Amino acid sequence: MADWLNQVFCEDALAGLARIPDGAIDLILADPPYGLGKDYGNDSDKLATADYLQWMERWIDAALPKLKANGSLYIFLTWRYSPEVFVMLKQRMTMVNEIVWDRRVPSMGGSVRKYSSVHDTIGFFVMARDYHFDLDAIRVPYDAVTKKARSRSIFVGAKWLELGYNPKDVWSVSRLHREHRERADHPTQKPLEIIERMVKASCPPGGVVLDPFMGSGTTAVAAKRCGRQFVGFELNPDYCAMIAQRLAQQGVVAHMSDDPVPAPAPA
Ligand SMILES: C[S@@+](CC[C@H](N)C(=O)[O-])C[C@H]1O[C@@H](n2cnc3c(N)ncnc32)[C@H](O)[C@@H]1O
Repeated sequence: MADWLNQVFCEDALAGLARIPDGAIDLILADPPYGLGKDYGNDSDKLATADYLQWMERWIDAALPKLKANGSLYIFLTWRYSPEVFVMLKQRMTMVNEIVWDRRVPSMGGSVRKYSSVHDTIGFFVMARDYHFDLDAIRVPYDAVTKKARSRSIFVGAKWLELGYNPKDVWSVSRLHREHRERADHPTQKPLEIIERMVKASCPPGGVVLDPFMGSGTTAVAAKRCGRQFVGFELNPDYCAMIAQRLAQQGVVAHMSDDPVPAPAPA
């Protein structure tokens, strides 16, 4: 097995990406700092606008050659910089969807001079027309009541009725709260439900998912749970420890340093 597979390196993504061979990755799942000044225990989210956009372009140009010809990319953004970053990516890839993640933020007051922002903007981009996309793996099953309501004869036997409907581009999934079992101590941890949907749809079984900004390691955990391989990077050593702990719960001993020593293969 390649010495970079199924590992999260505690280092700058730009340094780590240089070690990944070109054309080796099925799916890039990127959740970079949003440019909103969040505290990740480092200054990574505190760049001025021009510097932030320049940095985004740098890692995008370092990451895209790693994709296979039929590979895909999902990128988490907010309304603040999604216009600029989408234009950047559209010059390099084909945009397939803008997905709105409704974080189901409870209604308690909120902004007073504008509308309260309660969603993430996710871009879904592909390299080529024959991109991998497994719709059946992510269909949404109907509950019994809805299924019954669609019982008119013209619907009988319809695949979407039997297997579930095709997911739409608005995903309403609660952000993680303390009471959620999967919650780790990271300010922008993504729910496994969201990441696993992306992995199942856009990375074939056994394929490789690259996450340049692992945070609490959600992508690595999702990849392992879905029978895919992973590689990624994270700057903050405390988050790296968190990732190692989350992966250990999945039975994976991941090597967590900037020294590319092979880790034992996942079970
Ligand atoms: C939005 S968070 C990712 C959250 C992650 N998706 C999760 O579910 O936990 C972005 C992460 O990128 C890390 N980061 C920022 N700049 C980085 C860089 N140059 N290389 C590697 N990681 C970086 C931050 O420390 C932060 O943990």
